[in-house]
Amino acid sequence: MRLTEHEQAMLDGKEGPAKQKAMDLLVRYGEALGAERLVDTNNVSSSVSASSPVMREFAAKHGGGFDAIFSEFNLDSAETVKIPKIETHACQLIQAVDPDHWQTQGISRERYELNKESEEYSGSIGIQLLSTCTPYQVGNVPVKGEICAWMESSAVVYINSVLGARTNCEGKESTGAAMLTGKIPYWGYHIDENRLGTDLVEVEIEMETMEDWGLLGYYIGEMIGDRVPVINGIKGTPDHNMLKHFGAAASSSGGIEMYHMPGITADASTVEEAFGNNKPKTVIKYGKAERQQAYELLNHSAKDKEVDFIMLGCPHASLEQLWDICKLLDGRKINGNTDVWIFTPRALRQVADRSGYTKIIQDAGAKLMSDTCPAIGQILPEGTKVVATDSAKQAHYLPAIMGIQTWFGSLEDCINAAITGKWREY
Ligand code: F3S
Repeated sequence: MRLTEHEQAMLDGKEGPAKQKAMDLLVRYGEALGAERLVDTNNVSSSVSASSPVMREFAAKHGGGFDAIFSEFNLDSAETVKIPKIETHACQLIQAVDPDHWQTQGISRERYELNKESEEYSGSIGIQLLSTCTPYQVGNVPVKGEICAWMESSAVVYINSVLGARTNCEGKESTGAAMLTGKIPYWGYHIDENRLGTDLVEVEIEMETMEDWGLLGYYIGEMIGDRVPVINGIKGTPDHNMLKHFGAAASSSGGIEMYHMPGITADASTVEEAFGNNKPKTVIKYGKAERQQAYELLNHSAKDKEVDFIMLGCPHASLEQLWDICKLLDGRKINGNTDVWIFTPRALRQVADRSGYTKIIQDAGAKLMSDTCPAIGQILPEGTKVVATDSAKQAHYLPAIMGIQTWFGSLEDCINAAITGKWREY
């Protein structure tokens, strides 16, 4: 790998041991990927925390030293180095603990305290504690062409496609190294040719609801895997919530990190522009039968109609989505045997509090939570056997991770199940 003078100086340890470890990691990582050089970045989205069991064990062994945790888990270094303030702008992604609902989550005080200390540490080195999988909803909105180093598949596909920013799906280690050095290997979706379309999807039905968008994304991910679909035939303009659900679904059933909807997403205004010199590897159509296929796939684990948990807000809900939930819950009470947890970024929860949304949600018996989600935190209300959700991504992961039955449907289906305790019986 070719390094600039400054990069070589960091690798030689001239800017301290933390940057030396970070550069060493980036060079090893870049060479493994076949990258010829590094590129500058000033926008990192990462996970620096002590919330997983293995980290808690590690922290206990090292007397709770957060530099040790950062060295081991964010720099791949068995040797502990002093971590200085970070070079780039960087934000914290989702974690396991909601600091305001840890007791609801059934989390111990010890784990809550450790999470608090971990956050204080992250803040002290300059990480913005957005604590959401959707930083683009709360202020970190990269512009077209901006080189980023982001983790979290649903966020990666959103900023690459909808905003035209440039990132690969990074990990804890590469983003830890990027925030210390301002560098990331130049490969994958940083490069023009790799962003061109590979497969054509002809959508033959109207896309109206959030459920429609989740199903389309799930079907495309299943069919296209990790290539770059070009989606044609969309009538009208989907809003950002629809594209958020679409991308999250496509990146969970497949590994889609980039797509084009010519005229809607950032990189291309026509199908020809989206493909450039590429010829489509496949041309697939998406009609009623394909929609039904995706629906059945997402509901494959569900049998029991009695629903004991409703999960909403995957990816984390926007204010518009919270208001839609409020309109359906206002003046109603959820069933005594059903828990409803709704997830939003912590910054939006404050706005929801001030706007009176939180009160409507609480009065109905549901909870508005932040910072985490059941799939990432691997925490459900005690005794949960059957969950319902309006998120294709959550419906994809919960049966696999938590071994529970999961219904996927519309927001209205989920709210009605919350009220009656039963799936689609109203
Ligand atoms: Fe976010 Fe968790 Fe869904 S991280 S995208 S709410 S699985």
